[in-house]
Amino acid sequence: MKKIVISTGGGDAPGLNAVIYAVVHSCYRRGWEVYGSRSGYKGLLNLDELKRLSLEDVEEIYATGGTILGSTNKGNPFSMPVENLAGEIKIIDISDKIMNNFKRMGFDCHIAIGGDGSLEIAHRFSLKGMQVIGVPKTIDNDLEATDRTFGFDTAVSTATEALDKLHSTAKSHDRVMVVEVMGRDSGWIALYSGISGGADVILIPEIPFDMDAVCKKITDNELHGKDYAIVVVAEGASVKGGTVINKGEGELGRTELVLGGVGEWVAAEIRKRINKDTRSLVLGHLQRGGSPTTFDRLLALRFGAAAVRLVENGIFGHMVALSASSMVPVPLINAIKSRKKVDLTSDKVLTARDIGICLGDCF
Ligand code: F6P
Repeated sequence: MKKIVISTGGGDAPGLNAVIYAVVHSCYRRGWEVYGSRSGYKGLLNLDELKRLSLEDVEEIYATGGTILGSTNKGNPFSMPVENLAGEIKIIDISDKIMNNFKRMGFDCHIAIGGDGSLEIAHRFSLKGMQVIGVPKTIDNDLEATDRTFGFDTAVSTATEALDKLHSTAKSHDRVMVVEVMGRDSGWIALYSGISGGADVILIPEIPFDMDAVCKKITDNELHGKDYAIVVVAEGASVKGGTVINKGEGELGRTELVLGGVGEWVAAEIRKRINKDTRSLVLGHLQRGGSPTTFDRLLALRFGAAAVRLVENGIFGHMVALSASSMVPVPLINAIKSRKKVDLTSDKVLTARDIGICLGDCF
């Protein structure tokens, strides 16, 4: 008999509920108990926010977006900012309280589903003695040590569908449509959706772009009778010699800058330089919503079941990962040491170039 606690941390991603479903079912079959901690570590901090999960609680959730446990991308328990009555911000460490509650509840393992931020916190708890297993989540696909994170395929499908829809309106008005997609400082979503969705230009953080190259591609289109263009810009892309455009630090306790604005910047430059009718849109959180694709559902269910098998085999301090179509454990430290970037020698990048897509650096 084992007692597991599961949490979902960071930005939500389609497939979180499928992981929870697989963990609850796999534990139930073994006669183990599972608890869900609300909003990341909130349930481990305040036991009222901890909920025992039954099969009824997870019925059919594998097909739904979001997370039944709630999530947060603010508040690292090791350095939690709190505001006192005088409005001053103090940083406190509440990790001991969480450790004590974990022990008090008699948990054998914490299954932490998250991106690099949440998995780094999970790793720190594992160094403090908590038995932890990580599950890689993020639409950004920027986690090292796994071939894929769940959520990415759904985000790419949503972005591709949006690009498909934009073609007809761009063509009807002879316009340039600039579409900003998520991905933080990696260009995975932009590259995959841009290639699949017939983009003329794809701008990714891994290749600082040149506006001359972007505008040349758009005007070259006209040489062969194409008077419109689709430009996909990753939110973390930046012009050569420039910096990433952002909206500041966001809410208290958030560790990442809020990115956004580069799509409109690129659109304004295109208007100014080649006087083309240009519109921009930001796909934003649409990419995080909705039901997971079959690929993400299956991947998330496999991750959840694999995590429970690791508990059974006593392998802690690891993350479940997809490697060459198998589920493998990798040390948490390997998963968080750096963010996975688009490999510029990969066949996806070569494919983009071969089929005539401008990556912001071609002349
Ligand atoms: O990491 C997932 C992600 O959606 C990024 O692509 C994006 O930059 C960020 O989260 C947005 O965060 P928030 O939901 O706090 O606006």
